[in-house]
Amino acid sequence: MDARAILSRLRRGEHLTPAEIGWFADGLASDAVSDAQAGAFAMAMCLSPRTEEERIALTLAMRDSGTVLDWDLPGPVLDKHSTGGVGDCVSLLLAPAMAALGTFVPMVSGRGLGHTGGTLDKLESIPGLSTEIDEDRFRAITAEAGCAIVAASEHTAPADRRLYAVRDVTSTVESIDLICASILSKKLAAGLDALVLDVKVGSGAFMKTMEDAVDLAEALVDTANGAGCPSSALITDMNQPCVPAVGNALEVMEVMEALTCGDTGGLLCDLTGDLGGEMLRLAGMADTRAEGAEMVLQVIASGAAAERFGRMVSAMGGPGDFVDRWRDRLGSARVIQAVPAPEAGYLSAIDGEMLGNAVVRLGGGRMRSGDRIDPSVGLSDIALLGDPVDAGAPLAIIHADSDKAAEHAADVLSRAFTVSPDVPDLPPTVYRSVG
Ligand code: URA
Repeated sequence: MDARAILSRLRRGEHLTPAEIGWFADGLASDAVSDAQAGAFAMAMCLSPRTEEERIALTLAMRDSGTVLDWDLPGPVLDKHSTGGVGDCVSLLLAPAMAALGTFVPMVSGRGLGHTGGTLDKLESIPGLSTEIDEDRFRAITAEAGCAIVAASEHTAPADRRLYAVRDVTSTVESIDLICASILSKKLAAGLDALVLDVKVGSGAFMKTMEDAVDLAEALVDTANGAGCPSSALITDMNQPCVPAVGNALEVMEVMEALTCGDTGGLLCDLTGDLGGEMLRLAGMADTRAEGAEMVLQVIASGAAAERFGRMVSAMGGPGDFVDRWRDRLGSARVIQAVPAPEAGYLSAIDGEMLGNAVVRLGGGRMRSGDRIDPSVGLSDIALLGDPVDAGAPLAIIHADSDKAAEHAADVLSRAFTVSPDVPDLPPTVYRSVG
């Protein structure tokens, strides 16, 4: 077998066998396939959709191009993946809650991508904490704390690492087949018993229409199930941030408030309950998602999830007293400035992508790979959809490193909020489930 023969078959519109796909994935990992050949492969995938069998074969082959973990733990090994949004810090609350319920969550997570924030960047706003840890420590922390949120190592699906870099520069990211294989190869390499996918739709998500979100959710669920990992997806709303904050340390503060205040009201806890409830249902620990959600909210309210979070933070190099002293431990920005409402009325729309991009520009995300992130900048006190607002009242508070950066953000954000005279219809937290 060789790359040219496989690429010729793709050019003629033919379908590939699992053996050919496996050969190509191995070649990506071992450099037997050149960048030019990887680019041609990715473009062929974009131009001509694959069968479900081919997508499953690509997922398994990319997963098996690196280390696949197996576990011997006294509970199911579960995970959740979100397709990305703004102010989406659910993983930081969900992982310790699931750990407190006796499940294990070895969560391989990502950094900020485009206008969306990354769980790893958020967690690393905790002083001393590093998410770049080796496999032995990943295993030990998962076993001891019940959860660990870490970066993919060089041994995790190396074929995807190589192909993703090529896709990034050949305009071939937007293929459902490649997106599914990329996301799932890394997730399934963690040796999961079940996976729940949070497919976000709305102004702050990559998927702006319900049709696109359903297509992606169905493809992800079918592929994961076909690859042997019981999975389902929830299609959830991303027309407003999951917490009234966007920015790394500012989102951690919202999570810490939820973990320590004993009150489980609000969007973050609703969504965490739904996703965790679905994980418990898939694992056979709850009969319905709603029953599972109750269990999740109970361990958040009781402080059991906070205790797990504290264990994970300290094992990953963060302060041992973080859960008690988080207000003192997280940095704050030098300049604070409000975004005033242009007129009185009700907040009826938020352009989530604009919010996310404004935070990237403030230094809370990367303009180029390798950029340093400022964990303290971002937005807080963001008004919720449907909130009544007075003219001039703050719709959000900007946290910036300089007056100039704050002014620029205020200018951009003056166009990100729509205030209307009538009370708007509010979106549900979960639109529907798939699988
Ligand atoms: N995230 C990934 O890991 N891969 C993709 O292709 C898209 C988003």
